[in-house]
Amino acid sequence: MRSAKDFFRPLAVGAPAPVREVPFRPSRMIHFFDPGNEKMAAKVPSIAPQVDVLLGNLEDAIQADRKEAARNGLVQIAKATEFGDTQLWTRINSLDSPWALDDLLTLVTEIGDKLDVIMVPKVEGAEDIHYVDRLLAQLEAKAGITRPILVHAILETATGVANVEEIAGASPRMQGISLGPADLAASRRMKTTRVGGGHPGYLVREDPNPSDADAPRATFQQDLWHYTIARMVDACAAHGILPYYGPFGDIRDTLACEDQFRNAFLLGCVGAWSLHPVQIAIAKKVFSPSPADVAWARKVIDAMGDGTGAVMIDGKMQDDATYKQCLVVSELADTLAARDPELAEAYAAAEKE
Ligand code: GLV
Ligand code: MG
Repeated sequence: MRSAKDFFRPLAVGAPAPVREVPFRPSRMIHFFDPGNEKMAAKVPSIAPQVDVLLGNLEDAIQADRKEAARNGLVQIAKATEFGDTQLWTRINSLDSPWALDDLLTLVTEIGDKLDVIMVPKVEGAEDIHYVDRLLAQLEAKAGITRPILVHAILETATGVANVEEIAGASPRMQGISLGPADLAASRRMKTTRVGGGHPGYLVREDPNPSDADAPRATFQQDLWHYTIARMVDACAAHGILPYYGPFGDIRDTLACEDQFRNAFLLGCVGAWSLHPVQIAIAKKVFSPSPADVAWARKVIDAMGDGTGAVMIDGKMQDDATYKQCLVVSELADTLAARDPELAEAYAAAEKE
């Protein structure tokens, strides 16, 4: 076993020291694009300022014979673009594919200074993170990178879910975890054929009417992803890293996308993937606390003083625990407002009301 004292030592001579805390930068939407698609690549400079994270996707959705074009496209785009405050991430191919090694070798040595986070798909256990961790340290040292590249795992296999806690704590590089509902459904042999979201067949039905057995009975659709998201959120919170909902594949169903994103937000997630520009605004709306909630949180914080004791506000009891919840909302609002002037204005206006 590695000594706790060595946990924050670089894994290669000359690699940057690991971070002790995950930097909390806004990442409400992780916007996916295909860097080998010239039309999409041309839009990068105009999309970058609209999103918190731009992710060059090399894995699924990129055809086998386009893998190199996507990888080389990302190198070119990263070199040619000033991203400002927007983070640049990539999703490499899975570790059992013939492309993952070259993805890491090329990207870290060519554009490692521009890459904030590397998303690793189909992570099954801590051993996958350890492999990437050591390799990244060697490549960072080789390329003279001074700031460690962080790692994000996709939770999309049954084994990965069984091992989610050890994945979350496998390395100081771990930045976060996203739910990958499409691959996870296949891995679990679920009988869905979609990318995330609910299913009309997954429901509970109200009891029969005792005096009319044939009377219609209301049904309520249930959330297929509740268990996994909740488990992922706990694993991430326990290890000080960030949880995310992943993709929502029905691009035209913006309402259900918003619902799915909001469920994840309320359970503790900080963002979701956007697969199409229409999902950018949805994620921005959902993963930014509402001005009314922020104003309420600040009212409670002000009334609670040092956070101890209890006060009543509008008939609702507040104590140390609600104070802490309000701090979560208020601190998130501060971080987002620092990047988003429109949001800053909306929060300030709501506080004055
Ligand atoms: C994402 O990669 C998924 O499989 O849902
Ligand atoms: Mg997947």
